[in-house]
This record gives sequence, structure tokens and C-alpha cells, in this order.
Amino acid sequence: MESKQTSIMQKEIAEEPSVVKKLTETYITADNEIKLELPEKISNIVIVASGSSYNCAAIAAPLFVEYADIPCDCEYSSEFVLQKKHFVTSDSLYIFISQSGETSDTLNAIKAIKKEGVKTLCITNAKASTMWNLCDYKILSDAGEEKSIASTKALCAQIFCSILIILKILSQKGEDISGYINTMRRLSAYLERIIMASDKIKNAAQTVAQYENISILGNKNYYPVAKEGALKMKETCYLNVMAYPFGEFMHGHVAVLNQTSIVIAVIDEENAVFAQRNLEKIRKNYNPKIICITSVQDIKAGDINIYIKTKRKLKAIFGSLLTLQLIACDMADILDKNPDSPKGLTKVVKD
Ligand code: AGP
Repeated sequence: MESKQTSIMQKEIAEEPSVVKKLTETYITADNEIKLELPEKISNIVIVASGSSYNCAAIAAPLFVEYADIPCDCEYSSEFVLQKKHFVTSDSLYIFISQSGETSDTLNAIKAIKKEGVKTLCITNAKASTMWNLCDYKILSDAGEEKSIASTKALCAQIFCSILIILKILSQKGEDISGYINTMRRLSAYLERIIMASDKIKNAAQTVAQYENISILGNKNYYPVAKEGALKMKETCYLNVMAYPFGEFMHGHVAVLNQTSIVIAVIDEENAVFAQRNLEKIRKNYNPKIICITSVQDIKAGDINIYIKTKRKLKAIFGSLLTLQLIACDMADILDKNPDSPKGLTKVVKD
């Protein structure tokens, strides 16, 4: 039998370890300094983006609050431009994230907020793009050209750059960031290990591909990770996959489950007890198939448990995201869909 060609999406996912390695070398010096230019004073941050880049914003926003102690919100670009009033102080920083640097909704959002004289920063994969030229501060996410319409490595790079901003803010406050830097330096090898051990992931994809009622659950930073997994399955397999925060799911949404549905749960140290308790209730009342993607070694709540073992949240976010990307890509293959030419989608969404 003729073997199938590796898709561009698959190749780009496989590049993630080298993308984060390159970013580490570019932006972190041997003396653990972060080579980024930021405003000296930042009172609050708003991150604006679309699609996968928005999911990066939603993953990063609670990290800014938790690690850098800075109020941070995120908004969809398309909603941002419809809003009549934005919260702005002289030290507010508006961050815009875009792989292409040319997405109309995000460019319109930058133009709208610039009228208020606010400081702007972009994270983009396209140097000299319109976004690059519009913003005051610029970070190149440097993932290399991303051809796949379903974004993968670019998102990984955007999250990495968002964390670099957090670490830079912490170092500007005089805090010791060497522990976090060690974590970021080890990220490439961690992602490599997940890719190498992808048999269980393939097995999970075989299982998920048999279902049409698919729910992905995660808490806090992992809720946008779940949303990203759902977005990848929509774009590559044309399935109506839904993502929910774990607790919220129990408020009625859970009623969509039955024996012909599947739940994918993203579990880390912080939500382990809560997630397992809810999964028990879900199994008892609805008996769906359950897959757990977990950074905690002894979780056995799923019919399939994929371990992406780490105690570091900053690594687990990337690991769970990578696992969902791989599942989506494998599912497309199993369902005989070509992830490189998704129906009716274009790489850059313009007006
Ligand atoms: C992601 O897989 C999508 N193709 C899409 O959501 C994309 O992330 C969105 O259109 C934003 O694009 P940008 O990052 O180039 O602004």
C-alpha cells in the first residue's frame, strides 16, 4: 500500500521543539537576561487577537496576572473594534498578536486604539508586516514561514514570546527569574519527548475520530488550550467540537453527553482533584468515552490517559497544546481529510 505523504501541518507541528530552541537562543542571554524592549512602566495590559492568536492571548492573560501581578484582559479583535469605549491610562499597554501581521480585524483594532495615544506592542511572525510597522514595540515570534492554514508552530512561538514579556517585566521589577528561565530552556527537549512518544496520541486520535459529539474540557489557561484543540479539529476534520471550562460544563452543557460522545479532559496539578471529581460524575450519569491529557502521573480517570509529565505549568501548557494539535492532525489523516487544504479557509483573513 502506498504510504501517505506527511502533511505540511504535521511537519510544522514537528518543528515546535526547534522553534522554541531558537527563540531561547535569540531572546535569552547566557546571563539570563531577556533581550526585549518594553515600556518602563506598565499599569495594565490588554491583548487583542483573532483565532489561534486569540487563544494565545487567552492563555497568556491569566499568566500576566499570576506571575507579573499586572491586570490583563484579552479580547477578540473583531469585538474590540465594535466596542465604544476602551480602558486606557498613560501606562496601559495594548498587545496585538498575529502570525501574519495582516489580519484585517487585528489591524483595525490597532488603528482604533492608536487614536487614543496608547502604547502598542505586537507579537508577529512577519517582520515588516503592516502590524509590525504600526506598533511602537515589536517582537518577532520567528517560527519560520507557516504555510499550514491550521496554525500550530506559530501559536507555540507566540506563547513563548508572551512568557518572555512576563519574565522581562519580572526582571525589571528586580525579581530573580533564573528558575523560570531554566524551565524555558528545558521546553524544547520536553516537546521533543512528547512527539517521540506519540503512539498513545495516535491511539487517542483513532478513538476520537469515531465520534461526532466531542467536548474538550480545561480550566484557567487550559480552557483556551481546549478551545485551540477544538479549533484545530474544526479546521482539519470539519467536526463541531466544543470546548468548555470544566466547572462551567457541569451547569447544563453536560447534558449533550451520552454513550455516543467523547470527552477530552486537560488536567494538571492545580485542577486534578476538581477535574477527577467531575469526571466521576460525568461517567456515572452519561458514560461517554473519556480521554485525559495530564501532566500528573497518577491520573487514571480516562479510558485513555496521555501523560505529558511535568510539574511546571509553563511547560504543561505547551505540552497539552502540542498533544491536542497532534490528535487533530492524526484525526484528519484517519478521516481522510487533507489538513493542508481546508474547505473555504484562507491563511490570512482580510476584509
Ligand atoms: C488558526 O488555525 C486559523 N487559521 C485562524 O484562526 C488564525 O489564527 C486567525 O485567522 C488569525 O490569524 P493571524 O494570527 O495571522 O492574525
